Amino acid sequence: MFVGSQAHSCMVFTSHKQLTHFLKNNGNPSKSIGFVPTMGALHQGHLALMHQALSDNDLLIVSIFVNPTQFNNQEDLHKYPRILEQDLALINASLPIDRIFVYAPDVNDVYGDHTVSKSYDFEGLEQVMEGAQRPGHFDGVGTILEFLFEVVQPDNAYFGEKDFQQLQIIKKLVEKLSLDINIIGCPIYREDSGLAMSSRNGRLTPENFKKAAQIYQVLLASKAIFKNHGIARATAHVEEQIAAMPGFELEYYTIACEKTLEPATMVEPGKKYRAFIVVHLQGVRLIDNISLD
Ligand code: PAF
Repeated sequence: MFVGSQAHSCMVFTSHKQLTHFLKNNGNPSKSIGFVPTMGALHQGHLALMHQALSDNDLLIVSIFVNPTQFNNQEDLHKYPRILEQDLALINASLPIDRIFVYAPDVNDVYGDHTVSKSYDFEGLEQVMEGAQRPGHFDGVGTILEFLFEVVQPDNAYFGEKDFQQLQIIKKLVEKLSLDINIIGCPIYREDSGLAMSSRNGRLTPENFKKAAQIYQVLLASKAIFKNHGIARATAHVEEQIAAMPGFELEYYTIACEKTLEPATMVEPGKKYRAFIVVHLQGVRLIDNISLD
């Protein structure tokens, strides 16, 4: 199905076949395609990715699809915000709509009768942190992105560093599938308070939204402690701080090598490190990370 264009609206496709057909027949092959895959509930962080993609490319394709196979928790999938009309209104109000095409399919258009993921070997990148805590998550991410890359055939695809492990895994996916796509990581977009922007933040009460900014403060403090006293002291500090914050529950804080994502127990010269954190507040899973360079 094709929702089509109205006077002040970008074109929206709900069928991958029609999007592919459109791109083949209306696209100039010399025009570069930037791609921003999303699960909707768009915020300023997504818009920043879209602005970057528009400045680097002739056309921008945005996908909006809550991908069921990457959720290992059915309640999280069920509660994930689905606000397509609002998302389209934000795009239409903020961006040059003649250069943007949205793909917003239903589950059937993507998966047909079998909503299952393929299984991938990401050479260990998928075994730690999010992969360890959310079994099957990165198989779901790999499956949807392999499908979307095939449909959109982008030159450049943009992802936020908030999901840093996902970013590394997508680079590995593209390498393993020998796809000619540049994967571009963009800096974490933060609220003025420092809270990393996320579609899940909208589920917090205004009071908890304010309180959640402490996560970034704890990360910043841990960076300073890491520099002066190393991994164990930084980790202990985070565990103590979060335990003392009412309502917050620490799922993990891990300092890992930026390239391999292997959790580190000692600092080795020449390697870059990053601290990763997941905290639960009011039943919402909040994720953030910081470079320790
Ligand atoms: O980061 C996300 O929003 C999702 O994991 C992605 C990349 C759109 C795949 O569903």
